Amino acid sequence: MRLANKNLVTIDDLSNGEMEAIFSLANEMSGTMNEQFGLCRGKVMASLFFEPSTRTRLSFETAMHRLGGSIITVSDVGATSLAKGESIADMARVIGSYVDLIVIRHPWEGAARVVADYSSVPVINAGDGGHQHPTQTLCDLYTIQKDKKTIKGLNIALWGDLKYGRTVHSLIFALAKFGANILFYPTPGLKVPEHVLKKLTMEYGGELERRDTLNRTVKDSLIPLDAIYLTPSSPHQLAMMPNLNLQVETRTGIDALYVTRPQKERFTAAEKGQELKKSHPVVDKKMLRGKAFRQTLVMHPLPRVDELAYELDADPRSRYFQQAAQGVPVRMALISLLLGIKEVPLPAEDTLPEIEYPLYRREFGPSCPNPRCVSIQETETKYLQPEFKVVNREPLTLRCTYCEHGFEPRYVASSDWHKGTIATKKYHSAVSHWARKIRPEYLIVFNSEEEALARGFKPSRFSGMRRQGKSKKQ
Ligand code: CP
Repeated sequence: MRLANKNLVTIDDLSNGEMEAIFSLANEMSGTMNEQFGLCRGKVMASLFFEPSTRTRLSFETAMHRLGGSIITVSDVGATSLAKGESIADMARVIGSYVDLIVIRHPWEGAARVVADYSSVPVINAGDGGHQHPTQTLCDLYTIQKDKKTIKGLNIALWGDLKYGRTVHSLIFALAKFGANILFYPTPGLKVPEHVLKKLTMEYGGELERRDTLNRTVKDSLIPLDAIYLTPSSPHQLAMMPNLNLQVETRTGIDALYVTRPQKERFTAAEKGQELKKSHPVVDKKMLRGKAFRQTLVMHPLPRVDELAYELDADPRSRYFQQAAQGVPVRMALISLLLGIKEVPLPAEDTLPEIEYPLYRREFGPSCPNPRCVSIQETETKYLQPEFKVVNREPLTLRCTYCEHGFEPRYVASSDWHKGTIATKKYHSAVSHWARKIRPEYLIVFNSEEEALARGFKPSRFSGMRRQGKSKKQ
């Protein structure tokens, strides 16, 4: 069984068939909850929560109890040796030697990847900063599928903090995998990060139309739409549908509205200062009275703050408490599959569509620009080397293996073209034609000319900017 001993760090770790298998087992288990006791007898799960949680932690722990297994749990970093400066890798090695499965939530993006790399047992990411929360996505998809019977071709609107909402990031990729259309309604200033949108279009195909290019009718419609993603399997293409938003809203309607709270705990100081300006209409009965919302499932990963009116709790369209309740059977299914205790047949043709990007990994060079990335934290830099996927050549774009933030380095060199002496080591602008000729295995990347100079490289005539013209020869 492919799921046994797997890690679940991002939603990319699961194929569509594997997700369907989890849903099918969750369905079976939710109808026979009391019969599942004893399935995981003798198994121990570590539940490590270094950020607050009600649903994820308690539903994971309930799931393990209902399966008859045991748990060890931590809900305060100050109660662990991380507070004394221990690295996540050491913690992972040690706890991995005590238990059969680790569930971890941590504020650093990419932390679950490190735990998975260093532990000898399967690891489940229960939320790593603003990066991903794949098991919430399983609950979200399960909820949608239960009602709508399919996800393919649905119109799903994402509402609220799309910048820091980790549940949203996992959900975007999962919806794309299953062939849904996505409408983005971010709170002003909290749009989906560029690296998420780039990955969405590069790896899942489809079309993304941004607000700048949407026509006036679309922009001025019902609520402030920022962008639309149309799945490749959609029968219509944006170019042929300039009023797509109106058509979605008035003809086919919105199948699910996924509301999220402002993730204030992740706001920068500047964003905290701007908070009052980040107002977004509250989702309430009045907002949902239009024809487009007649069949809309109102969803929210919870907790809610002010963005979703309590009056909707009794509305037949609301699904957020079901989403939370389904966390138990979904996580029971996941635990028993990862532990290899349950098996569910998978379609033979079901595989993960893996894209093999070249890896960039050097002793020196850029570190991840994301201040929340695990790879740049003091306790972790002692053993973690920055690692990036080269996801694009024009413009040269690197994506951090841990937190998946992307960036475009400014200067490059080749380890192959020069003899390695100070006199012949040259660096070039990353946008020069010369840079594009460097093979990935020879690529050396610098974020600044100072960094290149400090490493003993000299500017070539393709380095651009301030030294252009001084150096005549390459
Ligand atoms: N949905 C979710 O992650 O909730 P908790 O933060 O309460 O676990």
